[in-house]
Amino acid sequence: MDFEKILFTEEDILNKVKELGKKISKDNKSEELVVIGILRGAFIFMSDIVRHIDMPVKIDFFSLSSYGQNSNSSGVVKIRKDIDTDITGKNVIVVEDIVDTGLTLNYIKDYLEKHNPKSVKLCSLLDKPKAHKTNIKIDYLGFEIENHFVVGYGLDYAENYRNLPYIAILKKEIYS
Ligand code: IMP
Ligand code: MG
Repeated sequence: MDFEKILFTEEDILNKVKELGKKISKDNKSEELVVIGILRGAFIFMSDIVRHIDMPVKIDFFSLSSYGQNSNSSGVVKIRKDIDTDITGKNVIVVEDIVDTGLTLNYIKDYLEKHNPKSVKLCSLLDKPKAHKTNIKIDYLGFEIENHFVVGYGLDYAENYRNLPYIAILKKEIYS
């Protein structure tokens, strides 16, 4: 087994996704909404949460390239895939898998705000508050976790484990 333990089961995640979807639907009633998923980590969370948002939404994706392939989050280098949707005057929700330092989402928020949307809100399934290096406000958060390295449900280590239906803590010996 590559995992120390399972942190969130499929059921834990589904319950949380439903709760977040309800909240997003309630907050954005009758307003146009564009949901932007950050590739690749958020692809599963994104596809689950949009099915629990009970209103018309437009979907897009955004991808950044960063240094390295390993467990450490790293500096943002450049945009690998920009959004194709016109977000001017619209309410935008960015969907991310996990916030670590907060640099990625901060960068994306600043970038999207240059397109003059009506609002940009952040949604992340996981957050490691002890790792933050920025003052980041997550509007829709699933779970806070300690500074573990976690995989599954979209999250990877060197591109592996994304397909696990649960979220697990990776054993240190795997990545150190
Ligand atoms: P940040 O810019 O430091 O907030 O890093 C966020 C990005 O780092 C996420 O989009 C993930 O790709 C990656 N990341 C941070 N922590 C983990 C983890 O525990 N497992 C998998 N990826 C992680
Ligand atoms: Mg990522």
